[in-house]
Formats: sequence, C-alpha cells, structure tokens
Amino acid sequence: MRIRWIEAPAALIGGVLLMVSAIAEVAALDGKALIEERCAACHDLTGPAPATFEGLLKRKAPDLFYAGSKFKRSWLVGWLRNPTPIRPSGVMFLNHIVVEGGKDRIAADTLKTCQANLDREEAEAAADHLMTLVDASMKTGVIDPAKKFSTPKGRRLFTKQLPCIACHTAKFGKRTMGGISGPDLTKAGKRLNPDWVYARIADPQYWDPMTWMPKIEMSHRKRELLTLLIGSME
Ligand code: HEC
Ligand code: HEC
Repeated sequence: MRIRWIEAPAALIGGVLLMVSAIAEVAALDGKALIEERCAACHDLTGPAPATFEGLLKRKAPDLFYAGSKFKRSWLVGWLRNPTPIRPSGVMFLNHIVVEGGKDRIAADTLKTCQANLDREEAEAAADHLMTLVDASMKTGVIDPAKKFSTPKGRRLFTKQLPCIACHTAKFGKRTMGGISGPDLTKAGKRLNPDWVYARIADPQYWDPMTWMPKIEMSHRKRELLTLLIGSME
C-alpha cells in the first residue's frame, strides 16, 4: 500500500512532463514543412540548376538548394522578415528589358522581390532548415575573414583588371557604383558565406550551368583578395 502511494504521484508528474514536452514539440515550427509549403512555388529546393537557356528564362527566383553553403544564418533570419531587392534587374534581366527611344531599359514595375515576409519564429525555423541545404563537395575553411588585405589592390582588381564591376554594383568607402545584370554586392559581407563567395568566383557554372557570369582563371591570392573585398561590403 505504501509503495502505491509513492508511485502514484510520481507517475502523475511523469505524465504531466510528457504532456508538456509533447506540447512544446507541436509548438516548435517545422521549417522544412513551412518552406516546402510557402516557398517552393518560386524557389528550387532540390536542384539541379537549369541546364538550358529556356530553363534560365523561366526561373522565377534564385535557387535555394545550396542555401546553407551560400548564406549567413544571421542575414537570413533578418531578411526573411522583410525582404529587400538584391537583383536590380530581376532574376533574369532579359525578362525585364523594354526598348524605349531605341534604348534598352529595365522596366522597374515588372520586378518582383521575394514574398517571404515571415514573422520572427517562422524566420528562425526557415533559416534553420535552409542552413541544412549544403553542397557537400564545397571546401570550407578556405577563407579567413579576419585576414588583412589591401582595399586599393582589391578595388583595382574588381574594377579595372577584371570585369566584375560591369555586372555588379559594389561599394568602395562611401561610393556605390557598377552594373546591374548581376546581384548587388553592396551588402554581401552581411549576406554571404566567404567560402561560398570564393567557390562561386572560382567556378560560376558549377553552381549555375547557364549563368552569364564568366569563369575567369586567376591565382588563389587574387580570388582570395576579391572574396575579402566583397566580404568587407556591408
Ligand atoms: C512569388 C515568388 C516567391 C516566393 C513565394 C518566395 N520567394 Fe524568395 N525570392 C523570390 C525572388 C524573385 C527573389 C529574388 C529577389 C531579388 O534578388 O531581388 C527571392 C529571393 C530569396 C532569397 C535570397 C536568395 C539569393 O540567392 O539572393 C531567399 C533566401 C529567399 N528568397 C527565401 C524565400 C523563402 C524562405 C520563402 C518562403 C517562405 C520565399 N523565398 C518565397 C521570389 C519568391
Ligand atoms: C557578365 C556579368 C558578370 C560578370 C562580368 C561577373 N559577374 Fe558575378 N554574377 C553574375 C550573375 C548573373 C550572378 C548570379 C545571378 C543570380 O544569383 O541571380 C553573379 C553572382 C556573383 C556572386 C554571388 C552573388 C550573390 O549574391 O549571389 C559573386 C560573389 C560574384 N558574382 C562575384 C563576381 C566577381 C568577383 C566578378 C569578377 C571576377 C564577377 N562576379 C563578374 C554576373 C557577372
């Protein structure tokens, strides 16, 4: 009899604890389900990237199947709550060109930004899941973001010796300049994982076979310099 008296409350407490943990599990958002439900209509979550020009023209939004290699989690959490434009000419500039007075112009009213608009809890859950979508063959630990580099040298490489500035808007000190057919890099330091930036410059077509960013042979030191320069733009 005595034993039962002791066991009953223990079982009751155990049961309550079980219920509490079950409720906590239901309350924690499932980032994978959220993304598959609300993001997959526009974003490719599985790959591979389009291998034809037609596929490139039809792409509605950037690929996310290697998001965990590409982005910084802290940026994702903030940006997904309030997406701002990154590509000044859209995901594919040819879809947004109009001719006016014999000149090509980007029709700004046809550009669409991301429709994520998540609340804080959703953004955390979505970011957690996105960070699991990694490219297993990408080398990590290549770039030390704290390494010192020469800004003037990097800038010369980016703007004069190589054609990067033709397609990318970049920030040098207070000055913002550059082309618009590629993503705006002025906040790239907050947004992108430096190891991915290095790998993206090394082989753009590995990530996106039909991309119009050229593959340019260069030394490790030059590629590292470009990566550190881009990482410093915030
Ligand atoms: C209606 C289509 C649409 C939906 C739905 C949508 N997005 Fe987007 N998303 C876009 C477009 C277009 C861009 C490119 C914006 C730009 O570059 O200015 C984008 C950009 C992004 C980026 C930055 C990618 C990069 O490489 O720069 C992330 C991350 C992202 N979306 C996540 C999400 C998540 C998570 C959801 C679901 C909760 C979602 N998006 C829903 C259209 C969409
Ligand atoms: C002919 C145009 C062009 C040139 C030249 C070019 N890029 Fe790109 N770049 C692109 C396009 C297009 C993308 C990817 C578009 C997308 O994700 O929607 C890209 C993507 C990138 C990204 C990833 C940015 C992001 O937000 O996803 C980096 C970093 C980058 N380029 C750096 C460089 C550097 C450094 C150079 C010079 C060596 C260079 N690019 C030259 C067009 C160009």
